[in-house]
Order: sequence, then C-alpha cells, then structure tokens
Amino acid sequence: MSDPAISATGTKKVTCREKGRFESDTVDYTASPLLDVRELKKHFPVRTKDLFRPARDFVRAVDGVSFFINPGETLALVGESGSGKSTTARLILRLLEPTAGEILFEGRSLGRLGPEMMRQARKQMQMIFQDPYASLNPRLTVEEIIAEPLQIFHVGSPVERSRKVSRLLDIVGLASRHAKRYPHEFSGGQRQRIGIARALALNPKLIIGDEPVSALDVSIQAQVLNLLKDLQEEFGLTYLFIAHDLSVVEFVSDRVAVMYLGIIVEMADKETLFRHPLHPYTQALLSAVPVPDPDCRRERIILPGDIPSPVNPPAGCRFHPRCQVCREVCRREAPVFREVKPGHYVACHIRGQGSEARGRKEEVGDGGQETVDGGGT
Ligand SMILES: Nc1ncnc2c1ncn2[C@@H]1O[C@H](COP(=O)(O)OP(=O)(O)OP(=O)(O)O)[C@@H](O)[C@H]1O
Ligand code: SF4
Ligand SMILES: [Mg+2]
Repeated sequence: MSDPAISATGTKKVTCREKGRFESDTVDYTASPLLDVRELKKHFPVRTKDLFRPARDFVRAVDGVSFFINPGETLALVGESGSGKSTTARLILRLLEPTAGEILFEGRSLGRLGPEMMRQARKQMQMIFQDPYASLNPRLTVEEIIAEPLQIFHVGSPVERSRKVSRLLDIVGLASRHAKRYPHEFSGGQRQRIGIARALALNPKLIIGDEPVSALDVSIQAQVLNLLKDLQEEFGLTYLFIAHDLSVVEFVSDRVAVMYLGIIVEMADKETLFRHPLHPYTQALLSAVPVPDPDCRRERIILPGDIPSPVNPPAGCRFHPRCQVCREVCRREAPVFREVKPGHYVACHIRGQGSEARGRKEEVGDGGQETVDGGGT
C-alpha cells in the first residue's frame, strides 16, 4: 500500500500520541494483528501456444493488497466475481506462492518459515469452502472427513480422534450418530456444518471462509452465520470472511474491505462502511443490499459493463470505466489508498479527499456536480 499510514497496523507503529487517532468501538488498533498482509501480489502467467516461450502477459489477480486482522476479529473481504478474493485466501494459506509481498501470521513472515514451522502455522489456519457439495470427499464417512486433518498432523490415537469427532459434531449442531454416514446423506446446511467441524478439528486461530454461505438457501444461511458467530465467541476465532455482496457480511463482520480488480478500494469498520461509504464502487455494492424498512429506500446503482480483464487493467483508477463520477485525473493517475478518517481508508481522487479534492476539481475544471465527500446512502 502506498500510504505509509495503512502499514501502521497493530502496536508496531502506533505511538501513545497516535493511539487516540485510532480509537474505535470495534477495532483494537493497539492489539498485535494475528494476520498482517502487506502489498501482496499474485500475477499468473498467461501461457502462449509455444510452451517454451516465456509468458508476456500476466493475470494480475491480486495486485498489491494490504490489510490486517486482529485476534478475535472478523474482516470481510467483499467484491464481485474475479476481483481476486479467493486468490488472496489461497495466498494466505500458502496454497499459492505470492509474486510479491509479505504475509505475517502472529508476527512471523510465512515466506521465511522453514517446512516444519510452516506445517505448524498451517494447523492454525483453516478454510471453509463455498460449495459444501464439492468440498467433502464423497467416498469418506463424516467421521473420516473430520478426523482427516488430525490424522495428517498425527494428533491423538484413533480412539481419541473418534471422541474428538463426536465432540465436534456436537459443537456444530450435528449428532454423533451422523459420524458413520456419507456426505450425500446430508442437506447443504448440514454439509457446511461438517465442513466447519473439519475446519475446527485442529483448534485453529484463523478461519478463512471463502463464500461459506453463498451456495445455501437464505434461511439456512442465517443458521450457518449464527453458528460461525457462536463459535467465534466460544473459541476466540479470527475470521477472514469472503463474500461477493455486502448483505451477508453485515451480520458477521467487524470491519469490511472492498476489493475491485486485484486491489482494495475501501476499508473501514462495518458501521462506517455501511453508513458512510465513500468509494463509488462500495456505494454501488451497498445500493444492492435490501433494506428491511419499506419507508427507507435505497436507489439502486447499476454499474455499466463488467469487471475488466485483470490481464490489462484500466490505466489510472481501475474503476474509472464504470465510475459515474469519473474525472479526467482518474484516467491518468491511480489514486492512493489513504486513511481519510481514523480507520477509514479509500482509494479515490474525489471521494473523502476534503479540500484536496475540491482543489483537484478546480484544477480539472470539469464543472461536475459531485459533492466532495460523496456521503452515505
Ligand atoms: N490459476 C490461475 N491461473 C490464471 N488465472 C487465474 C488463476 N486463478 C484465478 N485466476 C484469475 O484471477 C482472477 C481472480 O480470481 P479469483 O478466483 O481470485 O476471484 P474471486 O474474487 O474469488 O471471484 P469469484 O467471486 O468468482 O470467486 C480472475 O480473473 C481469475 O480468472
Ligand atoms: S478515482 Fe475517479 S474513477 Fe476512481 S472511483 Fe474515484 S472518482 Fe471514480
Ligand atoms: Mg472466489
């Protein structure tokens, strides 16, 4: 991240004088982050027909992403399809090697850990997948599925593992009689509970949920979200919760990071992001969130076109071809991701930039009607 303020995560750079600046009801900026992601990049080479010629083009799936998550906190990572959310998750779990950047877990850089230390770190980070039908091995019983991570890490005897499976089934709201059954005998919500039990087996600190409820019916979604919340409270879990729309994350998250075409464009605590979104992309995502009060209607913002190709992202601000308040400067210069209010970061030339943006508007001289702060919906 180009703004040095954003890298002032946790205690590391927060001096006593600065502490006041970072005060927040939801975020403890004085805590040491459990996960600290810095300038993370993943560029996939685009293969040409000639296998021996080096790739000239790259899919910039993740292109300089930074965020932190404090222990016990839930950070939601939201963005439409193709914005790089799953790639970010896979990089954190080291299922992919980053092109650049650093991931610190409990203060230690994962890239510098030897194989045994990395193995230990992996135990602390588990994933819940989107599709509870595809993510469970259909040939294994529920007991075998949940006990598999324990076996891989040589935890306990077979009897102890079996006891642990019963306990985990109970924790996620299933019965021990389910242990000998196969995944196809369960509903989608029950399968996701099995996936959660498996993720809990090694007592992890961090759980990454990659769209863990998107494939479920709405009524079942609420049950699974409630379960995740209860588990967080009971076991002090830390979550990175990935979703493609904001409606799901309102209930579970403490803070929200909005991702677009490989970068984070806005990040704030949940209340600020939902009440005072600044980035036009966040505002468009938020306009799609249903409001329960019929007297309080949000005007839906329909973005033109699709998300551009990450092989050749637009120059300047990546969002400019779809932005309703785009200015000349936006086509030229990439906006800096900066802290506009304590804990509220945004990458936009116009929104949240106060007098600076007013000056820029005059400089650009486009006569736009846009208010400088954008405001909430
Ligand atoms: N192994 C790969 N090789 C090449 N390109 C890839 C690879 N994995 C992902 N991509 C590309 O990287 C971009 C980001 O993909 P990613 O799956 O991270 O997005 P996402 O935000 O999780 O999307 P969705 O909401 O659809 O799951 C996409 O354009 C995708 O096609
Ligand atoms: S920098 Fe410009 S194009 Fe990008 S989101 Fe802001 S106003 Fe829109
Ligand atoms: Mg994904």
